[in-house]
Amino acid sequence: MIRTGVDIGGSGIKAGLVDTGTGELVSERLRVATPAGRDPAGIAGVVRDLVGQLGGEGTVGLGMPAVVTNGQARTAANIDQSWIGTDAATLFTDATGRSCLVANDADVAGVAEMAHGAGKGRAGVVLLLTLGTGIGSALFVDGRLVPNTELGHIEVRGKEGERRAAASVRDAKHLSWADWAARLDEYIDTVERLVWPDLIILGGGVTKQPDKFVPMLNSRAPIAVARFRNNAGIIGAALLAATADADDAAPPKARPRRAAPAPKRGSHAKG
Ligand code: BGC
Repeated sequence: MIRTGVDIGGSGIKAGLVDTGTGELVSERLRVATPAGRDPAGIAGVVRDLVGQLGGEGTVGLGMPAVVTNGQARTAANIDQSWIGTDAATLFTDATGRSCLVANDADVAGVAEMAHGAGKGRAGVVLLLTLGTGIGSALFVDGRLVPNTELGHIEVRGKEGERRAAASVRDAKHLSWADWAARLDEYIDTVERLVWPDLIILGGGVTKQPDKFVPMLNSRAPIAVARFRNNAGIIGAALLAATADADDAAPPKARPRRAAPAPKRGSHAKG
């Protein structure tokens, strides 16, 4: 099916229509700068415009840099702190008039890689790490996501891992590739002592140049580079939306909660 995916970041909000059977983008990729306040109302306005521009049907999937449980943002990374406690699924549903499903940005990127990328068909424990402003993590066990793992915050020598080894740290501290790779290696080693993955997938813009640092990593698990870089968020978000819609079409079972648009005025609630 074709579903809309939206990737909310601290600097840009990206959206597109995705063929969820192949993971390919079937529309142009829209990108709008994140409004300065990065607050719920400002971001919801951009999401409404992007979703409206793309058209499409069914549930809209969104990824954002936050822990998200039951559609609610519980933390806020590089977005306004007023997101914490916001029912993001309802906010976006009200803004777009479409049913919306919201998840953590790294989790949705992982969903894209497991379905159509470097993790396709991989059983066991697979860990995706996104290297960007922070470090996002997505953990899969036999293809099933363990949501909101937040492994970027694991401490390495008394400091949060993402503050030592995110891609942004290389830029901010003008580190050589070798110096940054050494930090990343130490971070990955720390994570590996705790979760023992069978495969590690590295994502984020920095993986456009894997030769600069991947050969310097000494992880126990093999390392693969993500297939989807800038589009992983859009694709994974659309895949989550498709899964939710497919579940709705199937006999009742445990379903992820997402907000549905309010019934139109004058319509009757069905029991
Ligand atoms: C946040 C995560 C997010 C990651 C990547 C971290 O700082 O805690 O929720 O997935 O950054 O954006």
